[in-house]
Amino acid sequence: MKKELSLNMNRYLANIGVNYIKLHNLHWNVVGKNFKSVHEYLESLYDGLANSLDKVAELLKMHGEVPAASMKEYLELASIEELPSVELHFDEILAVVLKDLQLMKAQAEEIRKMADEDDVYDIVGAMEDDLGEYNKAIWFLKAMLK
Ligand SMILES: [Fe+2]
Repeated sequence: MKKELSLNMNRYLANIGVNYIKLHNLHWNVVGKNFKSVHEYLESLYDGLANSLDKVAELLKMHGEVPAASMKEYLELASIEELPSVELHFDEILAVVLKDLQLMKAQAEEIRKMADEDDVYDIVGAMEDDLGEYNKAIWFLKAMLK
C-alpha cells in the first residue's frame, strides 16, 4: 500500500475515533423538543462508527500497516474538532453532525479513489459501504433540519 493511502486511512480512523466520542457528548447533552428522537438517532450513528473503526484498523493490519490506536494519535491526526461537554439545542447538534459527516464522506471518497488507482479492492469495498451509510445519514440530517 502506498504511504499516502496508509496515512489517509489513519487520518480517517482518527476522525472515526474522535467522532465516536463527540457523538456520545452530543447524545448526552442534546436538549429541546426533539430530545428523544435526536438522542436515539445519535446512538445509531456512534454504533455505526464503532463498526467502521474496527473495519478500517483491521484493513490496515491486513495490508501490513500500523493502525493508530491511541487517543493521543487520534487527536493529532483528526480534522474533526471536539466540543465542550455542555448542553446544546438539537438544531445546533444536527448542523454540527451534518458538517462532520460531510467531512468524513469527502475523506472516504478520496480514500476510495486512491485505493482504486492502487487496486486495493478490499479498501475500495469498505469505503463504498461507508459512503452508502454517509449518504443515508446526510439525507436524514437534512430532512430533520428542514
Ligand atoms: Fe445512551
